[in-house]
Amino acid sequence: MAAFTTILKKHRAKIILALVPLGLIYWIWVVPPKYTGYAPDQPVPFSHKIHAGEMNMDCKFCHAGVEKSAHASVPDTATCMKCHQHVASDSKYIQYLRTTYQQGVPLRWNKVHDLPDHARFSHKPHIAKGLDCAACHGDMRQVEGKVEVATAFNMGWCVNCHRDYVAETQPDAPGGNVSVRLADCGTCHY
Ligand code: HEC
Ligand code: HEC
Ligand code: HEC
Ligand code: HEC
Ligand code: HEC
Repeated sequence: MAAFTTILKKHRAKIILALVPLGLIYWIWVVPPKYTGYAPDQPVPFSHKIHAGEMNMDCKFCHAGVEKSAHASVPDTATCMKCHQHVASDSKYIQYLRTTYQQGVPLRWNKVHDLPDHARFSHKPHIAKGLDCAACHGDMRQVEGKVEVATAFNMGWCVNCHRDYVAETQPDAPGGNVSVRLADCGTCHY
């Protein structure tokens, strides 16, 4: 123990110097963009369980951008009005929806998931490979109230799935192909 203390004292600066980058790497790997459980208030209490669950609506009816672009996009009020012109008219929320629609005021849905600007994510290549929404978002058809961050979209999460995918689809992958691209810093960072 005494010897250990002596070593600690003698090399304190070096030890701290070594720990700083280690701590940094650890932080980069595990830090969530917004902590799991983050669930901002929304202008209208929208239920995925009613619409995507009980009514079995296709996610893409409302998140139309998901196959074509980086962003899945959140629906405008006109999309809701396709039904709510007639459905549930007694509800105060639907009345609010209708009033703002007539006034031409868009609803401001608050973003739940939000990667930092230096990270690049696009839905398109993932959907093109046939990944289900639930692989990353969990089963949204069960979500009754506010959407919350269920999975921390940190770097380790992205890279782990890319690594598993490569290991599964091309176990003997030589360099210079998809396996390299999926792990390349430039693939996910500007
Ligand atoms: C009837 C329209 C509608 C359908 C169908 C629908 N959603 Fe949504 N979704 C919304 C609206 C409106 C919001 C924004 C309000 C909120 O976050 O609660 C949203 C938010 C989300 C978010 C969070 C967005 C953010 O800001 O990060 C995810 C993820 C999501 N939906 C996934 C899905 C999935 C997966 C399905 C299919 C199982 C689906 N949605 C079906 C309307 C819909
Ligand atoms: C490979 C993982 C993955 C899959 C599969 C996936 N998403 Fe996402 N989704 C994300 C990430 C990561 C974000 C956060 C993007 C950001 O902040 O820039 C996100 C954000 C969203 C948002 C918020 C708006 C946006 O684009 O920033 C919605 C809505 C959404 N996803 C819906 C869907 C739907 C619907 C599907 C299935 C058709 C789906 N997602 C499939 C990872 C995924
Ligand atoms: C395909 C038709 C359809 C679309 C599109 C649709 N809804 Fe609905 N919505 C329904 C039905 C059906 C119910 C259940 C009505 C009931 O229980 O009386 C409902 C219920 C609701 C409720 C609960 C009403 C209450 O107070 O009981 C809200 C809020 C709501 N929807 C908001 C939205 C929003 C916001 C959008 C657009 C993002 C949307 N809906 C798009 C069909 C739709
Ligand atoms: C559930 C598994 C999974 C997760 C989680 C995931 N990815 Fe992917 N990613 C894939 C697959 C599969 C592909 C398609 C590979 C191919 O084209 O062969 C892909 C492709 C990509 C591409 C396109 C690469 C190219 O050049 O073609 C980018 C960029 C990307 N992912 C970024 C991300 C980011 C950023 C995250 C985290 C926020 C993430 N991915 C999370 C499975 C995943
Ligand atoms: C598959 C996608 C992907 C790859 C490959 C990737 N990153 Fe990241 N990285 C991300 C995402 C997503 C974040 C944001 C995570 C967050 O906000 O917690 C991030 C965050 C970071 C951060 C900042 C951490 C923070 O606290 O915000 C640094 C620095 C970083 N990455 C460096 C790298 C380097 C260096 C490489 C190459 C060795 C690399 N990344 C490869 C997806 C990726």
